[in-house]
This record gives sequence, C-alpha cells and structure tokens, in this order.
Amino acid sequence: MNTLIIGSGGREHTIAHKIAQSKLANNLFIAPGNAGTSKLGTNLPINITDFKILKQAILKHKIDFVFVGPEAPLVNGIHNFILNDKDLKHINVFGPQQKAAQLEGSKEFSKEFLYRHNIPTAKYQSFTTKSLEKGYLFLETLKPPYVLKADGLAAGKGVLILNNLQEAKTELKEMLTNQKFGKASNKVVIEEFLNGIELSCFVVTDGKSYKVLPYAKDYKRINEGDKGLNTGGMGAVSPVPFADAVFLNKVEKRIIKPTINGLQKDNLPYKGVLFIGLIKVNNEPFVIEYNVRFGDPETEVIIPRIKSDLLELFNAVAEEKLDQYHLEIDDRTVTTVMLVSGGYPELYEKNKEIFGLENVTESIVFHAGTRLKNNKVFTNGGRVLAITSYGKNSKEAMKKAYKSIKNISFDQMNYRTDIGFDL
Ligand code: AMP
Ligand code: GLY
Repeated sequence: MNTLIIGSGGREHTIAHKIAQSKLANNLFIAPGNAGTSKLGTNLPINITDFKILKQAILKHKIDFVFVGPEAPLVNGIHNFILNDKDLKHINVFGPQQKAAQLEGSKEFSKEFLYRHNIPTAKYQSFTTKSLEKGYLFLETLKPPYVLKADGLAAGKGVLILNNLQEAKTELKEMLTNQKFGKASNKVVIEEFLNGIELSCFVVTDGKSYKVLPYAKDYKRINEGDKGLNTGGMGAVSPVPFADAVFLNKVEKRIIKPTINGLQKDNLPYKGVLFIGLIKVNNEPFVIEYNVRFGDPETEVIIPRIKSDLLELFNAVAEEKLDQYHLEIDDRTVTTVMLVSGGYPELYEKNKEIFGLENVTESIVFHAGTRLKNNKVFTNGGRVLAITSYGKNSKEAMKKAYKSIKNISFDQMNYRTDIGFDL
C-alpha cells in the first residue's frame, strides 16, 4: 500500500516508523513531516489544510491509504472530502468523518453524547453571551475549583481551571464576550471539577467492533513534580500501573462499550482511533474528554508496544474486518521523554542544530519539531525529540532514556527528569 501520513510531530514519526516495518508497506509519504520522517519516506512540503493541494498529491503519488494524525483536518472534514470526490473515493482513510469528529471539535457535542448514552462524566452546562448571567448563577452552585472549557478547538489551550469564584466569572466573560479563544469560545462549557488521576485510553474501531490499545499516562506540566505551565506533553509511560484489571473492566463496561454503541445509535460512522481521556476518582472511571486521533506523546509509547502489523490493523479498520485482526502486545514497559526548546511552552527559539543523535543506541529517537537542512538536523518547534525506551518497568526504561539523552544536545535543551515518578 502506498501510504500518506498527514502531520509533522512525534506521533507521525512513530506511526511512520511502524508502518515502514509493515509487510503491506509500499511507498510512504508524509505531509509535511519532519527530519525523522524524511529518513523513512518522502516528505511532502504541502499545506495540509488545503484539500485541493492534498488531492493533487494523493493522485500524483498513487496513494491507497491516508492516515490523519492531527485533529484539525478531521474536524474540517478531510475524510468526507475524500469520500465525496469521484477521483478519491476508493482511497481508505484512518480517522472519523466530520460529524463524529465533533466529539473533539465541540465540547458541548461530546458532553451531550456522554449524557445521552449514560457514560460517567463531570456534570456540566453550556453558555453563550446571551446566557452569561445564567453562567454566573451556575458557577455559584459549584464548589471550587471551576472548570471552564471553550467549546471549539483551541490548540489544547481552551481549558481554564480557576480556584476563585470571582476569577471564574471574569474569565467566563472574557471567553464569551471578549472571545478570549476566538470563535472557539463563543460557547463555553462549565464543568464540575473531578479530583483524581488521569490516564489515556485508545480504542481503534471500524464502527462495528473495536480493539483496546495499551493504556498510557502522559505528563503535561513543564516542570518536575507536575508543576508549572501545561504543555503538549513532556513524556509518557505505558502500561499504567494504577489501571488494574478491576478498574479496566469498569472502563470497558461503562465507557468503551457504551461509546461504541452510542456511535452506532447516533449514526456517526467512525473508522479510526478514539482517544478517551479518563480520570480515576476513588477507583471509578469518568470521561474527561474525547479526542478523535492518537495522543502525542502517548503514541510514542503505545505504538512501540504493538507487536502486530500496523498497516494490517489500519487496513482491517478500513475494510470493516477489525474483528478478524489479532492484536499482539509487548508486555514490557515503554517510556518516552520529550526534549523541548528552552522557554517552551512560552516563547522559544528555533533553528538550533541538534548534535549526537547518531550516538544513541539504547533508545528510539522520534522526531517532533525538527527539520533537515544540508543533511544536518535543526530544531523546528517547542517539542523537539521524544526519547523512547523499553524496560521491565518504568524505572529501568527511564534509566536508558537518561543515558541516551546524555548523548544529545542543542542550545537551551530542556526536559523533565521525573517521567513516571508517581507510578
Ligand atoms: P480537556 O481539554 O477537556 O482534556 O481538558 C484539559 C485538562 O484539564 C485535562 O487533561 C484535565 O487535566 C483538566 N480537566 C478538564 N476537565 C476537568 C474536570 N472536569 N475536572 C478536573 N480536571 C479537568
Ligand atoms: N497528549 C494529549 C494529547 O495528545 O492531546
């Protein structure tokens, strides 16, 4: 199969790495890709939000299968575009159609879905400028902290958690009337705060049956001990020791099954992966959010734990034969540590040369924000490299990671030294 991967991060490099090992793999293209993906296939420097240009690339390179990494093209209907185009409709796409992608594209849509199908989640109400006063009254019925979520996509920044009622009211007004997150906050979901420990669940589905991939935990804060600003993710671990069999049975029964059934009942065709952000509150699972794609950096730890063929898995999804696919999982622990640019998640510089990658022997280096210039690798984003290592437990895997990291350097490189510290 000639495959096109859409995206340019650590997630896409990891998927490319695994697809390149597939017995079904033929030519591999990545749009736009990064320095890491350029070693596995051909990077296409095209604007992925322009579906017409994407169509030209798909036809030119005789693509059979499109894997969509990030959420934006899915929410913008890339799957429908391909399905509805007479020249492209035979091409298989991994990622849901636009209607189901609203599970990530609209917080209100996903909360309504969760409520409709009786899936445990935080209680909520949603508000617009017109109902601002009602929003204030709803906040008064809740206990702090207060959770405010922009309804639409806000590049992972649209959620505010506030300790003080007055501050929550001020921010609600900022979001609704002053468009703090642009159009994304024309509607705001206010939620009850859930106190617990989070984990990421990935369910691949062809719309009929499903397979649960390894669970992972991601470390979102910039500083050690889970302190400081939120980032895209500073590291991840799989499996998750606190997710024991009893808890995971509850997740499957109360969350995964009703979600897959709900998609069918609501006539939301889904061929792809559903990322369920979970929180464990006193041993009970609740849904924090749905995403309609793989997580990053979770992908960098869950894909290396899949022993079976990934393109065969994606093909089984496309052909609606997922029930016949045998998913084989490596029971070792995998960790990933993100090397980021100094200053990230706030202002940071790009274009720093990266040294020493060739000296890493005990870990896999997945590129996130990198680019190739004159055969040298330079930084090209906040999150730069994901250092993935195997071990019999997270401690052993982390030891390898830090040994590997000692070989790598770029100006103002930063990373967390405590990924997995709480497990
Ligand atoms: P979301 O984009 O909905 O995943 O929210 C971003 C982050 O905010 C989550 O990963 C949680 O850490 C936190 N969060 C969101 N909703 C809640 C909630 N109801 N209770 C506690 N924390 C939350
Ligand atoms: N790691 C969280 C995300 O990909 O949204």
